[in-house]
Parts: sequence; structure tokens; C-alpha cells
Amino acid sequence: MANYDVIIIGSGPGGYVCAIRCAQLGLKTACVEGRDTLGGTCLNIGCIPSKALLHASHMLHEAEHNFAAMGLKGKAPSVDWSAMLAYKDDVIAQNTKGIEFLFKKNKIDWIKGWATIPAAGQVKVGDEVHTAKNIVIATGSVPSTLPGITVDEKTVVTSTGALALPKIPKSMVVIGGGVIGLELGSVYARLGSAVTVVEFLDGLIPGADAEIARTFQRMLKKQGLEIITGAAVQTVDTSKGKAKVTYKLRKDDSEATLEAETVLVATGRKPYMTGLGLDTLGVKLTPRGQIETDAHWRTSVPGIYAIGDAIPGPMLAHKAEDEGTAVAEVIAGQHGHVNYGIIPGVIYTWPEVASVGETEETLKAAGRAYKVGKFSFMGNGRAKAVFAGDGFVKILADKDTDRILGCHIIGPSAGDLIHEICVAMEFGAAAEDVARTCHAHPTFSEAVREAALACGDGPIHA
Ligand code: NAI
Repeated sequence: MANYDVIIIGSGPGGYVCAIRCAQLGLKTACVEGRDTLGGTCLNIGCIPSKALLHASHMLHEAEHNFAAMGLKGKAPSVDWSAMLAYKDDVIAQNTKGIEFLFKKNKIDWIKGWATIPAAGQVKVGDEVHTAKNIVIATGSVPSTLPGITVDEKTVVTSTGALALPKIPKSMVVIGGGVIGLELGSVYARLGSAVTVVEFLDGLIPGADAEIARTFQRMLKKQGLEIITGAAVQTVDTSKGKAKVTYKLRKDDSEATLEAETVLVATGRKPYMTGLGLDTLGVKLTPRGQIETDAHWRTSVPGIYAIGDAIPGPMLAHKAEDEGTAVAEVIAGQHGHVNYGIIPGVIYTWPEVASVGETEETLKAAGRAYKVGKFSFMGNGRAKAVFAGDGFVKILADKDTDRILGCHIIGPSAGDLIHEICVAMEFGAAAEDVARTCHAHPTFSEAVREAALACGDGPIHA
């Protein structure tokens, strides 16, 4: 008899959600976590702490730039960095303790330590071997760096080090204009660092709708970030105290250098599976080093499943959560499913950037006939009241059927607004369905309705 129906390895958003769903479905469940707290990268050194720092630095930005215009006079607050880090740590603790509470409530055993899988059905932690009918690997990912760059998490840091710098650096070079680089680059720019982002591609945020990416780049520049695109970073030399970053411009192969107090390497992440013993077990990997699974998250070894950042697909906490729920349902004999076509992506800068579904570029590449409905936040009364008129909502709909195919928003609360379109897309809605739905006034969401109207007869406020 196995000790458990399911053992999940890793307690990030994929693993802990999977554990809770397994328990809800009546399965005897344990979750192995070697970190001192539950919640994985997202809660401890990723999504949650970065959002705390984004919020705090945004408040400072508001005080410095917009308070006077609202008649709020007086000295702008100064930054007490250690107090800001303590606030961030408190937010982390509230969240990780919350997961601990949920584990207890759902009678999930937390096996503390790092797991190895000696054979299907067995999970070894320390000297103890636990048995389970099913094992779910939810071990997530770690930052991937570049050859020629040594990360010391002091001068040259990944997102982990960037969330706990001893002081706010005077200057920072961010390597990579993706989500991490721009979120953390924004934090430090608002806190007073001179930030330069060096991006390999010709634009920011790979895969984003190009018009949104261009607008975003313009807005970030206005906020004081220097952005160099089409530049491949070659080396980072820290031998003289400061960091010297050498990059090559792709258009003419010319080399240039930048100096900075801190360098943030944000060039992507790679699956983490160290110590699990997957080679001995014969778990198949993809050519990119991710765990290969079928449509039901089964690996090549019966009884072992994998979800989240360790398998292909966008490395997003909510994608991992959905897979965690679905695989629990599959294990319980139900029909778990993830709709990979409707996974939103959000960048939590100010303004936020959010997207779901197709972009104009993917639609053009597929030769599909589509129409564009756009509405600027300039025409939204609520946005103007909070200095957020810069940005827009763009809905892409099928030219013949009006069915919504994608949506891209840059503007206030974009990360919340996008979900109206996610639900609409789940129900196969047309742009007209959104346009005919009453939206409360005055809300940012009216801009979404106006963009939907723009797919038809036209918006009212433009
Ligand atoms: P990313 O893949 O989003 O961006 C990395 C960027 O680095 C790319 O634009 C790439 O062209 C550039 N790059 C690569 N080599 C370079 C070089 N030698 N010189 C200059 N630029 C170079 O990766 P990122 O930002 O590190 O994020 C990792 C993962 O974490 C992503 O999958 C991201 O979606 C996820 N994440 C999501 C968040 C969110 O949803 N808000 C927040 C943080 C991370």
C-alpha cells in the first residue's frame, strides 16, 4: 500500500494549487518543499515580492510627479530602503504562511526537504522513502544566464539578487528587455537609479503585439529608462569594482561598453530539475531541456506527471496553476483541461501591459482576415482623473464573424481589464457581445467596451 495517492514535488503556484485540488478531490496528498517556506519562486523571490516593490516605487513616483497637480503640496517622501525591503518581506511572509494554512486546512502533508525519485512510485527525502501512486513534478525554473557572464548576486544579479540589493544602485544595466528586465528596471528607475536596458531584438517584450511594444518602449523612455535595442551583450567584466558591460550592435557589429554599479541579467529562465534523478528514471526531455509530457501532463514514465515551468509553454504562475488543477483532476479520474489559447500575460509596470490570444503579427502570419477595434484611454474620463490617459485597448476580431481573437491593453489596470476579454473568448463571444454589455461609469473598463464598439459601428467617445 502506498503512503499517498499523490506526492507533488515543489510548492510553487503549480505544486501548491495541484496539492489543494488533489485534497479537495479526496486524494491523500503530500507536497515536498526544500525551501523554508511554501510558495516557490513566485511567492518568495518572484511575482509577489516584485509586486510589492513595484507598488512602493509607483507610490513614490506618484508623490514626486502627480501630487502637486492634485493640490497635494509638501515634500515628496524619501526612501528608507531597508524599511521598503522589510515591507516586501512582510508581504512574502503573509502569502507563504497563507499557503501553510491552506495545507493544514486541506490535510496536505508538507514533507520538508529536497526530493529524489528513485523509482516510479517512490519519493526519497533525506533518508526516508515515501510511496505514492502518482508523482507530480512541479519544480519550476531558475534564471538562465549568458556565457561570458558570471552572476555573483552582488554586482551581477538575477531577479533573485535584484529583490534584495543592499542599497539602491546609482546606475543599473539590465540585460534583456523582457518581462523581468522591464518590471525590475522600472522599480529601480523610479527609485532613482540610472537604468539602461540592453535588448538583443529590435524591440521590447518578445512575442508581444508590435504596436503595444512600440508604445511601451516610448512610455518607458519618457519615464527615464535608456533603452538600447538590437544589441547583443557579450561580456560583463567586474574586475575593477564597477561592472563593465560590452555589447555588439547587430546592425553593424560595432562594439560599445556601458558601466554600472549593478547589472541585472534577465535573459530568460530554464527548467529546474536538479537532483530529481530524471536521467536514471528515463524521463524524456524535449530538445530544449524541458520535461516532455502528453496532453494529460504524463511524462514518459507511467505514474509520473509534470507541470508548470518545467514543461513547455509560457513560464507563468497562472499557467502552472491551471495545469496543477487539471492534472489533479486527471489523476482523480476526471477530465482536467487547460485552454492554452486563452492564457493572459501581464507586465506589472506603470502603466500595465496585458494581452491574450492572437496578435496582429500572428494573425497576419496565419493569413487570417481580421479587424481591429482600438480605443485610447485619452477618451476615458476615469483614466484622465488619475493621469493615465496614455495608452489604449486594442481588440482583434474575426473580419467575418466578429468573434474575438485577441486583446492587447496598455494602460491603467490592464492586468485586471484583460480578464473580461478572457471570459468573453472562453464563451466564443463576438466583439458586439462585449459592446452591448453595460459597463459601469466611470471605470477603466469602459475603454474595453469602446474598443469592442470600434470593431463595429465605432466608439462613442472618439
Ligand atoms: P524573457 O524571455 O521574457 O526576456 C529575455 C530577453 O532577453 C529577451 O527579450 C531576449 O531577446 C533578451 N536577450 C537574450 N540574450 C540577450 C543578450 N545577449 N543581450 C541582450 N539581450 C538578450 O525572460 P525574462 O524577462 O528573464 O523572464 C523569464 C520568464 O519569467 C519569462 O517566461 C517571463 O514570462 C516570466 N516572468 C513573468 C512575469 C509576469 O508574468 N509578469 C514576471 C517575471 C517573469
